[in-house]
Amino acid sequence: MAAVRLHHNLLVLFFFSFFSFFFSLSSSTETESLLRLKQSLTNTDRTLASWIPNVSPCSGTWLGVVCFNGIVTGLRLSDLGLSGRIDVDALAEIRGLRTLSFINNSFTGPIPEFNKLGSIKSLLLTENSFSGPIPNDFFSPMNSLKKLWLSGNNFSGKIPQSLIQLDLLKELHLEYNSFSGEIPSFTQDLTSLDLSFNKLEGPIPDNLARFTVDSFVGNTGLCGKPVEKACEGSAQSYSVASKVGQEEYGSSWARKVIVVMVVVLVAALMFLFLTRRRRSDFTAVSRSNSAEEMLEVQVPSVRGSTVEKRENKRGDIVMVNVERGVFVLQDMMKAAAEVLGNGGLGSAYKAAMANGLCVVVKRMREMNKIGKDVFDAEMRQFGRIRHRNIMTPLAYHYRREEKLFITEYMPKGSLMYVLHGDRGLSHSELTWPTRLKIVKGIARGLNFLYNEFSTYDLPHGNLKSSNVLLTNDYEPLLSDYAFQPLLNHSVAVQALFAFKTPDYVQNQKVTQKTDVYCLGILILEVITGKFPAQYHSNGKGGTDVVQWAHTALSEGREAELIDAELPTDTNSRNQMLQLLRIGVACTEIDSDQRLKMKEATRRIDEVQV
Ligand SMILES: *[C@@H]1O[C@H](CO)[C@@H](O)[C@H](O)[C@H]1NC(C)=O
Ligand SMILES: *[C@@H]1O[C@H](CO)[C@@H](O)[C@H](O)[C@H]1NC(C)=O
Repeated sequence: MAAVRLHHNLLVLFFFSFFSFFFSLSSSTETESLLRLKQSLTNTDRTLASWIPNVSPCSGTWLGVVCFNGIVTGLRLSDLGLSGRIDVDALAEIRGLRTLSFINNSFTGPIPEFNKLGSIKSLLLTENSFSGPIPNDFFSPMNSLKKLWLSGNNFSGKIPQSLIQLDLLKELHLEYNSFSGEIPSFTQDLTSLDLSFNKLEGPIPDNLARFTVDSFVGNTGLCGKPVEKACEGSAQSYSVASKVGQEEYGSSWARKVIVVMVVVLVAALMFLFLTRRRRSDFTAVSRSNSAEEMLEVQVPSVRGSTVEKRENKRGDIVMVNVERGVFVLQDMMKAAAEVLGNGGLGSAYKAAMANGLCVVVKRMREMNKIGKDVFDAEMRQFGRIRHRNIMTPLAYHYRREEKLFITEYMPKGSLMYVLHGDRGLSHSELTWPTRLKIVKGIARGLNFLYNEFSTYDLPHGNLKSSNVLLTNDYEPLLSDYAFQPLLNHSVAVQALFAFKTPDYVQNQKVTQKTDVYCLGILILEVITGKFPAQYHSNGKGGTDVVQWAHTALSEGREAELIDAELPTDTNSRNQMLQLLRIGVACTEIDSDQRLKMKEATRRIDEVQV
């Protein structure tokens, strides 16, 4: 008996040591592989200084390393000025690797053998100087590829035929290269395609005709829809198409020149301002209702401290998206400002700048989980997002004590404001087609975030009606998404709505299903027109829309849920009930019973308009 027990204990011990050996082995190979990758790159002394032995790559200190459950799943090495020969064999050893971004670096030469990474889902090489043709069968082993961005390089030759075999491919960006020849007949369900400014020719395949002309401009030899040149066309239509391309090209150059001029002008103004400032440094400035007062960004004047030091400490804002123009901190300081309110993460202001651009400035405290470099990389990633239902930030400002997060101001305000605000007429503006459009847009935005941040626990994390902004024609824009990795746990718990759900309150756990719960509340809020009690942290006030909807549905009284201001024709009513059931399925308390995000967004998409 004793012998058996001893034997058993030994066995357990053996298994434990085997597994811990195995795990330490796997994490130490990840470390070694990444360090080998680093060795293969140049210019890493400063940029990848955080990649050091004896610290786990998933500790949160390694710049650009994305982890999920303690395993390395992605590398986001954008904007680092890196070059060298990327050691793909080292990358191939990282079993969990799914996403790889080297956007805006200085790599040259032929495309590295990334096709050794068979399970990669997202390969982003935009804005480097890779060149030469890509072998026709290059992509054959890359069956998992969903997102391929090669834009802004110097690739040439034909677009590889092997791309058409990638069943999962969704986004293909090849713009600003020198690809030539005909466009392969893609049969996949691509959601995003850009082939502009290459040297492509011949007919545009039929099933790509649904994309706009923007996807094809700058290729004078292309014909067929949606470009203006018909395929067996005359010389005349040819010249029209080529003119379109050149005008586009010309105007994009003009835009670049204007941006450069604006930057120079702003820099000159800034210089003037700073030099003037040095002289009048200690005179108190009192300007009522200026953003400066509200933002209090200025470091309190300390007698004896040198001016230079203060200027450095203050720093400027960093633009991450220049689609609405370029501005500097001083432009914001001089703007007329207005308090918008206090959110969980800090206060928000509206600043109307002299150039006519109106921005929202969010002051966020306690975002110090990650260092400045990592913060910068995150913000630049946000700044690259282009989706009709996602709010892309314009700029940020970094100081240890406080971060400013700057987005465009939407005059219509948030869905919360429009639904429950004090404008009186707002409810009548929100007809049923408008509400359905809003919910569908939210679903599209979420679908995007769930691809973009697929490895995050909470790709959104703060989904509620005050974080859904509305454009003038009621297109919703999701904001305040993907913040969780930036926040210390205790701050996230206080500030993010995902942590107010039963998943966290009852089970201390958030998952991607938590966002689904928040989506469910939004749906019920839109249909009932009631302010959800869930948004009040103390649970007082508002309507418990979840309880109400679940009870009413189980008792067949769902009709009473529908906002009295909504019409009652049969068609709209059916849509409302269909959406209501989705909302209920999204708010199951047991997350196993709850819909998955993919399923939820698919079902919302299916609601017939
Ligand atoms: C590209 O990276 C450099 C740093 O290497 C940075 O200064 C520049 O702003 C980046 N460009 C864009 C468009 O983000
Ligand atoms: C791109 O390649 C062409 C030749 O294929 C070369 O003339 C040109 O200088 C290259 N451009 C860059 C930016 O490397």
